[in-house]
Amino acid sequence: MITNTRAPFFSPSRRSLMKLAGAGAVGAATALSACSETATAATPANDAIDPNAMVILSANENPYGPSPMAVEAIKEEAGNLYRYTYPTVMKFAEMVAEREGVAPEQVLVTNGSTPILAAFSDWVNVKGGKIVTSAITYEGVPRVAEQAGTEVVYMPLTQDMGYDMEAIAARVGPDTGAVYLCNPNNPTGKTIPTAQLKAFVEDVSNKVPVFVDEAYLDMSDDYPGNVMSEFVAAGKPVIVARTFSKIYGMAGQRLGYGLMPADMAMDMRKTGRLSNVNYLGLVGGMASLEDTAHFEKMRATMIRGRQKLIAMAADLGRPIAPDPQGSFIYMDVGMPAKDFAAKMLDRNVRVVGERWSDLPNWTRICVGLDHEIDKCHAAAKEILTSI
Ligand SMILES: Cc1ncc(COP(=O)(O)O)c(C=O)c1O
Repeated sequence: MITNTRAPFFSPSRRSLMKLAGAGAVGAATALSACSETATAATPANDAIDPNAMVILSANENPYGPSPMAVEAIKEEAGNLYRYTYPTVMKFAEMVAEREGVAPEQVLVTNGSTPILAAFSDWVNVKGGKIVTSAITYEGVPRVAEQAGTEVVYMPLTQDMGYDMEAIAARVGPDTGAVYLCNPNNPTGKTIPTAQLKAFVEDVSNKVPVFVDEAYLDMSDDYPGNVMSEFVAAGKPVIVARTFSKIYGMAGQRLGYGLMPADMAMDMRKTGRLSNVNYLGLVGGMASLEDTAHFEKMRATMIRGRQKLIAMAADLGRPIAPDPQGSFIYMDVGMPAKDFAAKMLDRNVRVVGERWSDLPNWTRICVGLDHEIDKCHAAAKEILTSI
């Protein structure tokens, strides 16, 4: 069994600040030090409360927005857009590699993690074999795979709405091309127990590549113990996807990365479709990685938001998928989720309608600002008490 040697949080170093400046982020290091005082504030992205505004709790964004250091670095660099991003991509990949304990060639940088999920689906399609995953999981890999003609095998959830890891492992056979896992799972929010996940990845990756989507992992209680990059570092056919859209609050700026065997990363790079990473995303991403205080603040803030959602469901008397660990809850509304979502929309609150058709009465609701969750709570109460 490989043990995780990763430090809990990236520690900013003089060297990485220098790298950031060397990446063409002229003035960014100055901006970083200038902003360090404000970096600990959990700044709502939108602090003016408009009672008629649409509250969006369907997209799993971070409503508190990016690190102030990222915002400053982006502003500082706005004049440098005429340059291509290649050297900055390399600097960013080096920074990520150091943080994750892998080689820079094992880091594939993309605009958001969606392209990693899609490129992996295409890669499996070319290599052949089915993708084994769970029912009620994120569609990024399965949907693209199915469109390309790859068969996807969905193993049912366990009684407590977790992945059935034994059944998934048992289903892997000669017809399998890869396994996709989302941890914590979107939409249930369930995590795979760390020991079980490590044993699974260790064993199954001897047979087929295993993809672990860690979009929400840094909000889970067990983070960083359940980070799977150690298997990539050990040279196993394991792919880890991470994103700046969630805890780093940069969904609109588009930045993500995949960790994987260097030859697989090269195969994917060669398609030429992934070279669309944007400069300001990289600049913001590097500053975000330096701002560990903001990261910790966001982790605490998002966990508090998740607890507020759990309390809302309890007050509404509605069951949720137990022990959610992402930035959302998955709730049984006792009526078709599409009708519920439509009624919520009438009240200016957007939640997920029927997206996972196996569970038509379940909706996913994500963390918003406190007043947004309160508005959602009031709207849901009105709807659910009138049925
Ligand atoms: C589990 C999971 N993976 C990947 C993504 C893709 O996000 P992005 O392309 O913004 O990184 C999402 C988006 O919601 C997600 O929920």
